Amino acid sequence: MCGIVGYIGHENATDIILDGLRRLEYRGYDSAGLAVLNGSGVQVHRAEGKLLNLEKEVFRAAPKGEIGIGHTRWATHGGPTERNAHPHKVGQVLVIHNGIIENYDKLRKKVAKDTSRVFESDTDTEVIAHLMDHYLQQGRTAFEAFKKTLKDLEGSYAIAVLHEEDPDHLYLARCGSPLVLGVGESSHHLASDIPALLPYTREVIFIEDGDYGILSTDKVELYGEDDKAVTRPVKHISWDQSMAEKGGYRHFMLKEIFEQPEAVSQTLTGRLGKAHKEVILEGMEHLMPAKGFPFEKVYIVACGTSYHAGLVGQYLMEGMARIPVVIDNASEFRYRNPIIDKKTLVIAISQSGETADTLAAIQQAKKQGAKILSICNVIDSSIPRASDETIYTQAGPEIGVASTKAFVTQLTVLTLLALEWAGRTGQLKKADLEKAAGDLKRLPQKIKQVLDLNDEIKELAKRYTEVRSFLYFARGLHYPIALEGALKLKEISYIHAEGYSAGEMKHGPIALIDKGMPVLVLAPKEDATYEKVIGNIEEVKARGAEVIAVASRGDKAISERVEHVLYVPKAPLFLQPILEVIPLQMLAYHIADHKGTDVDQPRNLAKSVTVE
Ligand code: G6P
Repeated sequence: MCGIVGYIGHENATDIILDGLRRLEYRGYDSAGLAVLNGSGVQVHRAEGKLLNLEKEVFRAAPKGEIGIGHTRWATHGGPTERNAHPHKVGQVLVIHNGIIENYDKLRKKVAKDTSRVFESDTDTEVIAHLMDHYLQQGRTAFEAFKKTLKDLEGSYAIAVLHEEDPDHLYLARCGSPLVLGVGESSHHLASDIPALLPYTREVIFIEDGDYGILSTDKVELYGEDDKAVTRPVKHISWDQSMAEKGGYRHFMLKEIFEQPEAVSQTLTGRLGKAHKEVILEGMEHLMPAKGFPFEKVYIVACGTSYHAGLVGQYLMEGMARIPVVIDNASEFRYRNPIIDKKTLVIAISQSGETADTLAAIQQAKKQGAKILSICNVIDSSIPRASDETIYTQAGPEIGVASTKAFVTQLTVLTLLALEWAGRTGQLKKADLEKAAGDLKRLPQKIKQVLDLNDEIKELAKRYTEVRSFLYFARGLHYPIALEGALKLKEISYIHAEGYSAGEMKHGPIALIDKGMPVLVLAPKEDATYEKVIGNIEEVKARGAEVIAVASRGDKAISERVEHVLYVPKAPLFLQPILEVIPLQMLAYHIADHKGTDVDQPRNLAKSVTVE
């Protein structure tokens, strides 16, 4: 995710900005830039790739000034090139931005109509600089033009702005993307996250959503959503650098679990229409005509956690859109001589976009004439480049090797696809789609409620640090989540864990059960198979199993049958996998943490597997 740094004070801004950007490197990025201002003008430097490239540029030019902004960019709109790197300069305005401007296309047209403007990048950010320049040209002051620009923006942002002729002020705004302000002695710092501030100050102000303002060396002016002046409290931070990088969490994995409401919300941004009543997937027009579904079948290929997302996708697409879906591990697919042709749409799912087997599967499918749609978290990585079209998850960089937020955003995209296609095949009417879009809009809020289980799960996890084996079972749409829960546990705690479809238990795994064996069961009350799952619980209990159930809030009866219940909020069936996986992620995390394993970098595993 992009990193923002800003400084106004009496020291060398270039050094402070580069240092801040280095301290935000853990957020992930693929290009970087900075702008430093003094009485005689501004110097802007941008470079593709690592900060070292920017540092080389800066070293040659040695920009001097006591005010500046800097940015590390995690590409979303437009590839990771120098031309798309921030800051964007239009006239005298310099902008850096983290987030997504949803209505950038409309705004581009608006400013292009009034003036003869040339856009130099493919980003959604550049339009902010054009808008502000446009309002300046209408005679407004810099602050008025900045305010007016903010009113036009829809989406999420943290923004820092400089005006070339005003070395005494730095403008800032926040709406949905992180931004903190550091209060120094005769100086102010801005950053996406606390680590960038720590060497300079421990007194910080958390800018709130809807806030905007102006910084000078000795003054902070902040305004709230209603344009009234606001004062936000100054807080003292006692974290060390490594704690700060993890947002105060012990591990990146836990931080990423807690980032899931925002990750899902970002992934939905711009895809539910303005009124949140429809599903809009940009790029679908390159694969199919405006109406109908032109393929005979869909073939999903993926590995690991992404494969489990694909299994849920299969249930959703078949169940909601009635489109036949075949799914395979990419490593199997490539040697299977699969039955595919130009009437097949192949979906490749990959958080990293670099998995060798998935890439090879795509290449094979292309040779056989199929069209390729990928679902990926890393813009312009190898898999999107090899695909006809890509829908990006907007999880931001995931650092923990065990995938969590990337997985739930993959599920989110697959749900959007199933809904869009259900509209095309006539399986869902407009009113059903409107309702589903509304349910999706409310999903991040429900995820937040699931996160409240963390303390309870942390305590529960203590019971299982010494167990040798764990079983997970479920039926239907929930079955892939049992697989994913077991995978998470084995990945990070090294406890042997198996996921099974509940109906298959008596065909083998039940032989494993003896006294005290932990069995986790997904038992949502709303599912048609609920009674059958209860029957399966009775079977394992009769053989001595200790059962943890993930159940629907309000299902009191289940608590009498099992040792422990983790309640998740009620939700329509198609959204339940997203809510159910979160307690399983937390359970795996806390068991591993109690055991003391290396949670973020488990032995023998890699975040991106680029070999066969
Ligand atoms: C590795 C990662 C897993 C991931 C799998 C597939 O094994 O550790 O978390 O699920 O690769 O990766 P992909 O990037 O294609 O989703």
